[in-house]
Amino acid sequence: MTDVIDGKKVAEEVVATVKDGAARLIAETGVTPGIAVVIVGHDPASQVYVNSKSRKAKECGFHSAQHELPDDTAEADLLALIEQLNADPAIHGILVQLPLPRQIDSARVIQAISPEKDVDGFHFVNVGKLGTGEIASAFVPCTPAGSMLLVERVRGRDLSGLTAVVVGRSNIVGKPMANLLLAANCTVTIAHSRTKDLPALCRTADILVAAVGRPEIVKGDWVKPGATVIDVGINRIDAPERGEGKTRLVGDVAFDEAASQAGAITPVPGGVGPMTIAMLMANTLVAACRTAGVEPPRF
Ligand code: GUN
Repeated sequence: MTDVIDGKKVAEEVVATVKDGAARLIAETGVTPGIAVVIVGHDPASQVYVNSKSRKAKECGFHSAQHELPDDTAEADLLALIEQLNADPAIHGILVQLPLPRQIDSARVIQAISPEKDVDGFHFVNVGKLGTGEIASAFVPCTPAGSMLLVERVRGRDLSGLTAVVVGRSNIVGKPMANLLLAANCTVTIAHSRTKDLPALCRTADILVAAVGRPEIVKGDWVKPGATVIDVGINRIDAPERGEGKTRLVGDVAFDEAASQAGAITPVPGGVGPMTIAMLMANTLVAACRTAGVEPPRF
């Protein structure tokens, strides 16, 4: 039987550990984990993400500050806010929701966040730590960190001898995911749009991670029998079978076909998605624990 990995349940377990850790940190040191979530402009999808991040932070017992800036915010004003948050002892994690409006250089903004508060794990210091295997002191980007927890639920923490293929080479998911799998002793290949014979490469994977943002591109016959399939994609597609104008969410993997081959697979929705916010909470707790000199819980 194929194991359909319940990301919602694992995310709830992570959040329960965060709540417990936050309560203990507050009781022992008086330090309340604090997160600042910054959004520039009125992109509706970003607004939904940011609101749910702030809500989850409150649920975890954190101090949560949401900063909503207008579409035409100047880069200098955003940088000034980041400087202020970097210096604020009540804030342990800073998240600037991407994408940013065109007049703002995202790379410059990301690098302005203090690496110790970079709970997204996008700063060069954290990217470098992950790349050199200094994972214990790094912040790892939330989506690959959550995807890795799901892999570990199926395969354990040591993935020695396993072959992994990551389809997608983004800085947010593909590259950090490949580094995490490498650190866990997998033999890793990163595939992308220029890769030759992608189906054949994917068929070599004991662990197959799809993070390309193309609906259902990974077919059933791309999946090695018994493989662990992690679908990071969230794509909204038309669903005329549900009625006129209706849509539905699908991943980057053709789920039914792939599930018939896989040993374990994440669904969309309900797989990787819920893990992202849970890992943001985990990273924020870790940031607060490091500041207070307290050993953080292990996730
Ligand atoms: N936009 C889409 N995903 C992310 C993310 O993981 N972090 C931030 N800051 N913005 C995003």
